[in-house]
Amino acid sequence: MAKPIIRTVAVVGTGVIGRSWIQVFARAGCRVRAYDADPDQLASALAWLKQDLKDLRRGEKLKKKGAKAIWKRVTACGSLKEALEGAGWVQESGPEDLALKRSLVAELDQAAGPDSIIGSSTSALDMTEIAQGLSGARRCLVAHPVNPPHVIPVVEVLGGLETDFAAVRDAVRFLDSVGQTPVLMKKFAPGFLLNRMESALVREAVDLVATGVADVDAVDAVIRDGLGLRWALMGPFGVATANADGGIREYFTRFRAAYHGLWDALRTDTRFSDELVERLGQETDAMTDGASLAEQRTWRDRMVTAIREIKVRRPLLSAEDKKKKAKRDRKKAVKVEEPQPEQEIVAAVEPKAKPHRRHGKKARRERRRK
Ligand SMILES: NC(=O)c1ccc[n+]([C@@H]2O[C@H](COP(=O)([O-])OP(=O)(O)OC[C@H]3O[C@@H](n4cnc5c(N)ncnc54)[C@H](O)[C@@H]3O)[C@@H](O)[C@H]2O)c1
Repeated sequence: MAKPIIRTVAVVGTGVIGRSWIQVFARAGCRVRAYDADPDQLASALAWLKQDLKDLRRGEKLKKKGAKAIWKRVTACGSLKEALEGAGWVQESGPEDLALKRSLVAELDQAAGPDSIIGSSTSALDMTEIAQGLSGARRCLVAHPVNPPHVIPVVEVLGGLETDFAAVRDAVRFLDSVGQTPVLMKKFAPGFLLNRMESALVREAVDLVATGVADVDAVDAVIRDGLGLRWALMGPFGVATANADGGIREYFTRFRAAYHGLWDALRTDTRFSDELVERLGQETDAMTDGASLAEQRTWRDRMVTAIREIKVRRPLLSAEDKKKKAKRDRKKAVKVEEPQPEQEIVAAVEPKAKPHRRHGKKARRERRRK
């Protein structure tokens, strides 16, 4: 991994998301200054990190020296001011509430150094609203991760109306340099990209169960043993391209009417009643076959990591594949230039041309002498 382009980072709010960010930044080589308004939360985030490093060592993903180095890069801070000291990047990971985010980001803007960038983990809020009226609104942006970011790399990046593009550009570069996959959005949409798309699917999944079309296990199976297998490799447009011999244009033309019909049929009114949530809970408990929540999460994270490793090892076209392909193409080009075997044979058996026979008295005399 390349070196992080910002070396000191503050993580503010160390719950589920903040603690995972600590791991992302520390393993990339950043000095991480962690702070939470609740000291017990900070302590449990550090305990979680310690356990995660232990698990990585046990799974031989990390050597003792590497784990120690990560641990040593993290400093638990007793105040916001202490956490922000020297931080070039601030990852705000407080609760998802607009009023709370506004006051927390305002505090960060007051206390952070003038050149630092403030990235918020918000899942759905608009940075224009969060940073409204702040003198440092130009350096505030959304850096929305997927849970947990130390396992899943995508981070949605988006500024507010007052954010400088330079800050957005530096955010993308920084997140890339710590091994994440920044995805730049062009404008705000509630839920950003990820939660919007997930929400569309969850709405349909819940509706299918609520209206008795299928059970929870059947709906989940269609994703985990069906669509999800492709989706780990390609998005909806990539899948559409590979689904028809004529690629995406043919696919979306051939199935245009079918899609339009389904889209019209997808308008649902289902809402989460307490009874529905309980029913989904009971069916899901039965589906997971007694595995504890911790076991499910550990298994999920390990498998996602394994899939990512395979994707890195076996990309669509590896550098080696590309080289081989270029070599094959070059060889083909040379073959075209080479003489065809039949021509060579013809050349080999063709009798040599007879020497020109001289005529005249002198030539006849010479031939007789021989
Ligand atoms: N949990 C997810 O699946 C998920 C995924 C992506 C993004 N997010 C976003 O990440 C953010 C954090 O979510 P979470 O699930 O980790 O929440 P969480 O409740 O687990 O953690 C929030 C933490 O912020 C701390 N906090 C509250 N006020 C604070 C303050 N003024 N200063 C410092 N710390 C303060 C709390 O003590 C708590 O530890 C939210 O904006 C959320 O929308 C969550």
